[in-house]
Amino acid sequence: MPHPVQTCRWHTYPTPGELSQAATQNILRSAQQAIDRNGRFSIVLAGGNSPRQVYQLLRTSNADWLHWHVYFGDERCLPPQDTERNSRMANEAWLDHVAIPRSQIHLIPSELGPQQATEAYTKTLETVGEFDMVLLGLGEDGHTASLFPGHDWGIEQSAPPVLAVFDSPKPPPDRVSLSATRLSQAHEVVFLVTGMGKKQAITEWRSGKAIPASAIAPASGVDVYLEALLLDPPG
Ligand code: 6PG
Repeated sequence: MPHPVQTCRWHTYPTPGELSQAATQNILRSAQQAIDRNGRFSIVLAGGNSPRQVYQLLRTSNADWLHWHVYFGDERCLPPQDTERNSRMANEAWLDHVAIPRSQIHLIPSELGPQQATEAYTKTLETVGEFDMVLLGLGEDGHTASLFPGHDWGIEQSAPPVLAVFDSPKPPPDRVSLSATRLSQAHEVVFLVTGMGKKQAITEWRSGKAIPASAIAPASGVDVYLEALLLDPPG
């Protein structure tokens, strides 16, 4: 299967704070445009720590929350209230504090384990078309969501929308992830990349190396919001 052809737009910022401010404004602008267009805004959330500041900024933003529909790009197989759950971070930073109806926040039931949670979330997504926006992070090894080097990324057109992950190199080992193909079915894809540890992954990505992040190939291309220091030539 040939690696998907990805169009990347690189947006650099001096600090994570300025990056988060810009990303938040983009999200709010896209949300209003989607709601004006279709009466709803569907967004897939990134896990990890990089999006936390964006979620905190969204918490204090004024948005048409009743028309927001929230999904998750991946989840760690842990109890619902575990501090390492991506959903717990998003709830505490943002979702518990705004008026998005809980019925419109679609958690991945990863406490059921990879296989059962994958089956359940596949059903959840059956009635969902193209996402309006997908947020993603980048791991130091080039992973995104829970798509890791040396594992199945789900890049075939026929790939299932949701993948069970049993041996993640980033703990915990058991996870659930949307596939690269499903994450690419989006009007907009925004990567949020902060931290010096990502420098090698960014260099490889920009050199054209096939990494999980470069397998996310929506028709409109992807926007990578990254700290400027990640583009500096190796010192
Ligand atoms: C996860 C995330 C993962 C994350 C990257 C970056 O569950 O761990 O989905 O893909 O986005 O590992 O993590 P940081 O933002 O914490 O660097």
